[in-house]
Amino acid sequence: MRPVVLVAVLLSATSLHGETGHDTWLRYTALDEASARQYRAAIPSSIAVLGGDVVEQTAQQELIRGIHGMLGRTMGAAPTSPGLRLLPVPAVVLGTSDEFRRLAPQFTIAAGLTADAYWLKTTRINGTPYILIAGGDPRGVLYGAFGLLRKIALGDSVTELDDKQTPAVPIRWVNEWNNLNGTIERGYGGPSIFWENGRAREDMSRVREYGRMLASIGINGCSINNVNADPRLLSSDLIPQIARIADTLRRWGVKVAIAVDFGSPKTLGGLDTFDPLDSRVIGWWKSIVDDIYRAVPDFGGFVLKADSEGRVGPSTYHRTHADAANVVARALKPHGGIIFYRGFVYDHNMDWENPKNDRARAAYDNFHDLDGKFEDNVIIQIKNGPIDFQVREPASPLFGALDKTREAIELQITQEYFGQARHLVFLVPMWKETLDFDMQIRDRSTPVKKIVGAVVGVSNVGMDENWYGNQMSQANLYGFGRLAWNGDLSSTRIVEEWTRLTFGADPVVTKTIVDMQLSSWRTFENYTGPLGLQTLTDIVGNHYGVAVEASERNGWGQWHKADSKGVGFDRTAATGTGFLGQYSPAVMKHYETLENCPDDLVLFMHHVPYTHKLHSGKTVIQYIYDSHYEGAETVARYAKEWKGLNGRIDERRYQEVMAQLEYQAGQAIVWRDAVNNWFFKESGIADSTGRVGHHPGRIEAESMRLSGYTPKPVTPWEAASGAAAVECAEAKCTAAFNYDGDAGRHDLVVQYFDQSDGVSRFRVWVGGQLVDEWTAADRLPARKVDSSSSSRRTIRGLALRKGDEIRIEGIPDGGETAALDYIEIANAQ
Ligand code: GCU
Repeated sequence: MRPVVLVAVLLSATSLHGETGHDTWLRYTALDEASARQYRAAIPSSIAVLGGDVVEQTAQQELIRGIHGMLGRTMGAAPTSPGLRLLPVPAVVLGTSDEFRRLAPQFTIAAGLTADAYWLKTTRINGTPYILIAGGDPRGVLYGAFGLLRKIALGDSVTELDDKQTPAVPIRWVNEWNNLNGTIERGYGGPSIFWENGRAREDMSRVREYGRMLASIGINGCSINNVNADPRLLSSDLIPQIARIADTLRRWGVKVAIAVDFGSPKTLGGLDTFDPLDSRVIGWWKSIVDDIYRAVPDFGGFVLKADSEGRVGPSTYHRTHADAANVVARALKPHGGIIFYRGFVYDHNMDWENPKNDRARAAYDNFHDLDGKFEDNVIIQIKNGPIDFQVREPASPLFGALDKTREAIELQITQEYFGQARHLVFLVPMWKETLDFDMQIRDRSTPVKKIVGAVVGVSNVGMDENWYGNQMSQANLYGFGRLAWNGDLSSTRIVEEWTRLTFGADPVVTKTIVDMQLSSWRTFENYTGPLGLQTLTDIVGNHYGVAVEASERNGWGQWHKADSKGVGFDRTAATGTGFLGQYSPAVMKHYETLENCPDDLVLFMHHVPYTHKLHSGKTVIQYIYDSHYEGAETVARYAKEWKGLNGRIDERRYQEVMAQLEYQAGQAIVWRDAVNNWFFKESGIADSTGRVGHHPGRIEAESMRLSGYTPKPVTPWEAASGAAAVECAEAKCTAAFNYDGDAGRHDLVVQYFDQSDGVSRFRVWVGGQLVDEWTAADRLPARKVDSSSSSRRTIRGLALRKGDEIRIEGIPDGGETAALDYIEIANAQ
């Protein structure tokens, strides 16, 4: 019999890093004295853990840390008898249900705790009070500890606990698209926490902290490299590095996995083939997997992207995806490993002139005939929508097409097509729409969340102190974990939890942030791509700024097919690509006709004239105009509302979010104008309210008196107001004009361009007086003058008189030309 294990009390400072966002939702800040007193009365001050497993030890340490931080109490080891049996003193007791049965049979533990599940229970034995944290396994114990701490941090009562929590799916993983050189594909929060210069980082502290964050929201696996995998990961040199990362994450119950390259038997193994049916290839995978498990006995498995976006795959040998998945799966199976085979397979060289070609069909077309042919440790990892993490997509029809194959849903936490770290977009409401989407298989209710057995999130945290480069983006990781655990949680509940844990209990703060987060997806959609148009971004470039036509006339297949007469992609079964036929008849019916199809996806499913009337009664073109104005206005409102939190939250995070929202408000205007101008030019239909193309108070830089500055056309044209900017090729240039409006206080907006390859300086004079100066030093994904680099500076409350000369001076630097787009003058706000 294993004795009760007692561990030395571990004390830890709660907030070593201050309020930088580093501590995320795990701040454990001191409660006010009245609440702390209540919790101190309800929670025993002794603690005991029944098992010796490292994950249970972690659970105990975390509880001690959290209780110390929030209640100011240092928990002590529960006293035991000489046989190390618990003495009858009040205690918090942690253990697996099995350990409780064997070592502390005086407690009755709820039956049927499955892996990762936990049960929090208050009980009394002969009058002595206990709080039990029982887990289905050690991981469950850890999740239970976090569960109890969350309750305390949220102010929930813990006096009468009887809370059994079971995760909705057993596999809840994150994927980190990290490269060995430390960069991250689609990562916006700084370099990799895992890799540096081709090796695992010497200092594993950020990995350890990340493991803690993941465990706190129930994530139990992490794939630590890019899906566009570097074969070197499997080399004998790198396997010990993977083991170091696995050793660090193990105590948090997080299994390590890696993405592999299907060509590895050839490129790394030296074979002359990677044909999955070749016996040498079969042997190679087996031996490499055996090597990994020797170094990492609890290794999670592989992620494999094959035959997609230039990655090699089974098609080289005319084999199927099942052949490819199975050769790897069979190598993993004896060790209990799994392979996530990505459903994201499509041809990126499609003929755009063939109206029947449709990338949205690809996942289904590639996989549904293979149903039943996969080994049982293969999971097909399917992106939420049929294209690629766009601002709005229907649920992928593949979810409903695999009866005999395990499926995972892949969600993207990193905001690739959602304004990257620069825009606030809370993705949980969108994810919930897919999880709740009813595939209506054989006319029975079959929501996606009941079909999938695994949930995977592309997370891409980085070394930035706040992990994502944006304080508010942390809500997406938190929400991902909570949803993966329980798909029935509401978006409101999730974001309320996150806000209170992250910013404290002030109801004004909570209300402001919760409202902002909950409306942010619709807001972003409004100023980017509404009605199912998808994110109208530069899809062949940085996926950030606006470029309406970047998706058209190329093989990538993200077409919206807008021309002078109409817009949208006919994907109907009747006249289009037949994509809708991939759904069950009931779902197809929902989308197939314009009468039924919801407005939000109408242009994803149908091609219509601009004058087509939506269910809302508006025409498509007017909806496009209006939604862009509405979206931009809403972000401006966010910035205003955030100002109301000044003094209610810590200064640093207040300032960071303020700057981010002000930037976003400017970018939303860039998007608004670009999209609206583009559709106005293409359709020739005027905005019924006259806003599009008319900007009172706007003066184009190219119309000013220029000294040194030269007007240049901008590509794509809609990326700059008037399709042009002025650029400076000299040491210093100026652009000037005379103010022609009413006297009084005004706000002056300077729209300029801030690239990543230089730090230009700007100065503004009014009537010879310097009124503002700044440097263009923002970290934006932009190397040229376009919508991605377009930035705004607002100078507030300037006293202007008719005739005043307004002069802007630009001093270029590096590749950056101190470019200017326009100035806008409005009455002071
Ligand atoms: C997107 C993303 C790529 C990524 C790919 C994938 O297309 O832009 O960077 O490799 O998805 O999920 O495989």
